Amino acid sequence: MCVVGYEGDIFALSARCPHAGGDLSLGWCKNQKLICPVHRYSYDLHSGKGSEGQNDYIDTFPVKIQHNGIYIGISSFWDKLKQALK
Ligand code: FES
Repeated sequence: MCVVGYEGDIFALSARCPHAGGDLSLGWCKNQKLICPVHRYSYDLHSGKGSEGQNDYIDTFPVKIQHNGIYIGISSFWDKLKQALK
């Protein structure tokens, strides 16, 4: 998982780039996107959707900021499958 602070918001995304396995936690952000340091594919910080022409995505996780910490929601495989089949 890659936790990113960008323009006052916090995002939690998959740290593995689907293109060739690059470590997205070593990347950087630009224009609301996380850039992979290997071949510079980019992913939307909110949706995880890859930029036009990539036809891929990375997982995103809900983030909740509370007075005592930052909480990140993790769905199970079955939760994701149920959502995909709706
Ligand atoms: S490994 Fe991330 S863009 Fe190629």
